[in-house]
Parts: sequence; C-alpha cells; structure tokens
Amino acid sequence: MRKKIVAGNWKMNLSLDEAKNLNEEINVALGKNENKCDVYNFIPSIYLTSLIEKDQEVVIGAQNGYPDKNGAFTGEISMNQLAEIGANAVLIGHSERRQLFNESDDLLKRKVDSAIGEELKVFFCCGETLEQRESGNYKEIVIEQLSNSLFHLAINDFEKVVIAYEPIWAIGTGVTASPDQANEMHKGIREAIAHAYSQEIAENTSILYGGSCKPSNANELLTQTDIDGGLIGGASLNSRDFLAIISTYN
Ligand code: PGA
Repeated sequence: MRKKIVAGNWKMNLSLDEAKNLNEEINVALGKNENKCDVYNFIPSIYLTSLIEKDQEVVIGAQNGYPDKNGAFTGEISMNQLAEIGANAVLIGHSERRQLFNESDDLLKRKVDSAIGEELKVFFCCGETLEQRESGNYKEIVIEQLSNSLFHLAINDFEKVVIAYEPIWAIGTGVTASPDQANEMHKGIREAIAHAYSQEIAENTSILYGGSCKPSNANELLTQTDIDGGLIGGASLNSRDFLAIISTYN
C-alpha cells in the first residue's frame, strides 16, 4: 500500500531563527497525534545541521545535491556530503532547478543515481509549462522527463522513489490544477510506471501533487484517487497552513 506524504519545500526562505521555530512548531504539533501520513521538509542546505535531530517527527531533506562525490565544483554540495550530515531525502528535478539553473535530464539522471547510492530518499519532480499544456501533448512531455531521468533505475531502487507532479503554471502562481486535471496526470504517470516496471510497483508508488496547494484546496486535491500527498511551497512556510494541509489525512 502506498504511503500518503505531505512535504514542505521552503525554497530560499526563512532566517535561521524562523526556520528553527517553524520546525519546532511542526514537530510539537505532530507529536501530539497519531499521524496518518509521513511529513517531510526540504529546507535550505545551510540549515540542515541545525535542524536535523534524532527522533523528530518531520523528516528533513535537502532541495538539491550534486552527483559527483567531491572535486572542483565550487559552491556545490554532494549527495555524499548531504548523507554524511544526516539528511534523509533530497528533491531532484524541481522546475526551478530545471528552468533557472538549466538542469538537464541527463544531469538529473546522474543526481538520481548518486542520491540512491547514498541512500537518500529521492523526491523526483516533473511537470509541464503552460505552453506545453496548451500544446496538448503535456502528458508525453512529463512522461519523457521520467523516462529520461528515472526509469533506468532497477526495480528495488525505483521502489524508494517518490514522484511529485508539479505543473509549472501552478507553482507559486496561486493557480492550481483542478482536481480532475491533476488526477488525470497522476493516472498517466502511474500507467507509465506500470509500463516501465509493473502494475504492482505502480500501485505502490506515492505520487504527490504540487502547485499552489493550500488549506482551502488541499482537501479536494489530496483526496483524489491517484494523488498520494502534496509538495507544498508557500503554504509550508507557516505552521498553521502546513498543519492544516497535513490534517487532510487525519
Ligand atoms: P507552491 O510551490 O506551493 O508555492 O506553488 C510548490 C513547489 O514549488 O514545490
């Protein structure tokens, strides 16, 4: 049975004090309930050592990592270094990395392999631009992203991956995919996984929706048949909104 997951993506936000407070508030609140979903937060890497603690409720991950183990890559942090300081998970292929930092499918494939090798849980993001959606072949485009960077994995490695579908036109824009639009794409992604691996693997893969998900729309989006959780940007930056989204699964 696939897991329900709510994950926050803090992006390049919050001071260290704000980050510590937010992490504390969420951990305290989650500690009071039996939670029906797993909760992750992808935080700025510079805060990882300050926020990673043993036995906390929220699993802490990084928003990016570099595939080589070490070397002359000024400013980069390797998957190996992330794992060494205790990060548990990493986002790979977020549209902001693809678009603003020109990350190619090939680089993302190397990142996936490196992260898996370091036993980091991979949250692999995919999604189409508005132009691609309007062109009509958005499903093929998203599935190609998965084929190019993810579907080369052996079954036992692919089983550790979470997929986040994030239509680029919905990220940070206030516009969300309708529940039907999102569920249709999630179904398509699941079919592609079944084709690449098996129906059983497809049924066991968690596929999250991301893009302007907030307390007011979380319930209708996150309870669709093929939507297994959310990757939350703006609404993960305050505990009230983030906890309200998590409570969809209580
Ligand atoms: P948003 O961001 O919720 O602010 O749209 C989602 C994301 O980029 O992961």
